[in-house]
Formats: sequence, structure tokens, C-alpha cells
Amino acid sequence: MDYAKQYQEYLARANQALEKACETFLPEESEVCRAARYSLLGGGKRIRAVLVLAVCDMLNGSAEAAEQFAAAVEMLHCYSLIHDDLPCMDNDDLRRGKPTCHKVFGECVATLAGDALQAAAFRTVLFAKGPWSGEGAAAPALAAGVLAEAAGVQGMCGGQYWDTIGDGQPHSLEDLTAIHDKKTGALLRAACVMGVLACSGHREVDDSCIDAAREYATHLGLAFQIRDDVLDATSTTEELGKPVGSDSANGKTTYVTLLGVEGCREQVVEHTRLAKEALERGGWRGSIGCLCWLADHLAQRSN
Ligand code: IPE
Ligand code: IPE
Ligand code: MG
Ligand code: MG
Ligand code: MG
Repeated sequence: MDYAKQYQEYLARANQALEKACETFLPEESEVCRAARYSLLGGGKRIRAVLVLAVCDMLNGSAEAAEQFAAAVEMLHCYSLIHDDLPCMDNDDLRRGKPTCHKVFGECVATLAGDALQAAAFRTVLFAKGPWSGEGAAAPALAAGVLAEAAGVQGMCGGQYWDTIGDGQPHSLEDLTAIHDKKTGALLRAACVMGVLACSGHREVDDSCIDAAREYATHLGLAFQIRDDVLDATSTTEELGKPVGSDSANGKTTYVTLLGVEGCREQVVEHTRLAKEALERGGWRGSIGCLCWLADHLAQRSN
């Protein structure tokens, strides 16, 4: 199986779903929507969307529902990036190889574009069409709940607070792992669980699948953010499409400051192994090959 090709197919479906969601929820005549579309369309690895689509495929779920959930999680992610780049947070000027949203539209419009994306994400989930029947009819509401939990103080937003402000103290390895898990892991977990929920009413879903999906995403998230910290310290702006050295310029404690680049590489290998191992324990009907490939691919990514 050519998983690199499959990833490209998922990416294309994610981008199409995002275009469609923009047409419905972010009409171009508004400046705020133009800013949101500027950041959302035409860039990004779309791994959160790919996770929704791949997990749903593994369970032979509804592609239509999964595409809308996938678009929603990417909109939420994009909002988090716009706010993350603001001067009051990481103060970065480049994202996905282009000037950041606030550099083009100003801080006020960029902040509102993030807000609009978050609202559009929830509308996309809640109005998602699918072959819902019986208990499956609750799937959009359940998926919205999963996304809200991941976005809020128990998840991304809480992690961003501790990453950016916290108690002003350098973080221990244990604290940093908890921060990474919230700011990055929570949304990846939500993506995987939303992939499972896209199958509701269409297929009976075993709890062991949800548990395995969550555990996979937890380790994937840690490996992903540790790799992000390494790239911030070792890559080039051209390759990364965002400024390198942002973490040290902001005085952040990262995995690199605590473990060094070599120690980080070992952690990435270990969490990638644990992610794949978690999948093997789930009661999946389909092949786990694509998600295992994705974990390996992300462990070696260069942007
Ligand atoms: C960047 O996420 C922010 C982190 C959580 C490290 P991605 O690396 O997934 O960014 P895009 O969406 O591909 O640009
Ligand atoms: C951000 O982490 C995680 C988010 C929730 C957006 P970083 O601040 O390390 O992400 P980059 O390096 O700017 O993409
Ligand atoms: Mg940040
Ligand atoms: Mg940042
Ligand atoms: Mg970073």
C-alpha cells in the first residue's frame, strides 16, 4: 500500500472540505473572513484532518461526515495558530511560508479571524450531514463536545496559557510534558475520536477503538511537539515556513532546553513506538497501516 499517496488523497479531501466550509460559514465579503481564509486555505500539513479521515476509514465509516469533522478540527487548529503568532503570545511574523495573519490584517482583525474560525468550526461540526440514524443522531453533538473539551482550558487553551505565561518559572520535564499534551496533544486526540464518531449510526463502534485512538494520539502528540521544538532549534526558516529560534527568543522551556537535541530524538522514537503499539491493541476492522505510516512520517518530518 502506498501510504504517501493515500496521505495526499486525504489532504486533497481535507482541502476540498475546507473550501466548502468557507463558502458556507466564512463569506468573503467580510474583512474578518478574508483574514480567516488567508490563514486557513492553501497551506499546512492538515494532519488533524488526515487523522479524522484515516480513523474513519479504518472503521469503514461515513466519508461525508468525516470530511466535515476534518474541516472543523483544522479550522479550530488554524484559529489557535493565528492567536499563537500574535505579539502578545509568540510574536511571530511568518506562518506556512507567508506573513502571519496579524502582519497582513492587523492585530484586531487577526484576533477576530481566530474567533470567527473557532465559531465556524463548531457550526461545521454541529450541522454536519451524515448517515445518522438511531443513536448515531447524537454524533454531531458528541463530536462538538469532544472538540470543545480539546479547545478549552483542559486542552489547547489551557496548555497555551502555561506555555506562554504560567507561573513564570521554568518548567520541569513532567510539567512540560503536561503542557505539550494539552496545547498540542488534546486536539490530535479530538481528531482521532471525531474520526470514530463519524462512524456512529453507520457502524457499531467498540470502546476499545476509542481508547486505542486516544492513546495513539497522546503519544503522537508528544512526539509531534517534541519534533516541533527540535525543528525550532535546528531547522531553517525557508524549510520550516515559520521563524526558527522563536522558542529561545521568547525564553521558553522546551524539550530541547531540558533534554538536548539527541535526547529529544530518543523521545520522539519512543513516543512514536508507543503510538503504534496502542493501535495494535484496538479492535479495528480495517488496516492500521496508514496511521502507523503517519506516525513514522511525522517523527521524521522537516516542517
Ligand atoms: C503547528 O502545528 C503547531 C503545533 C502544534 C506544533 P502543525 O505543524 O500541524 O502546523 P501546520 O498546520 O502543518 O501548519
Ligand atoms: C503552538 O505551539 C501550539 C498551538 C496550540 C498553536 P508552538 O508555539 O510551538 O507552535 P509553532 O511552533 O508556533 O507552530
Ligand atoms: Mg506557542
Ligand atoms: Mg508559536
Ligand atoms: Mg514551535
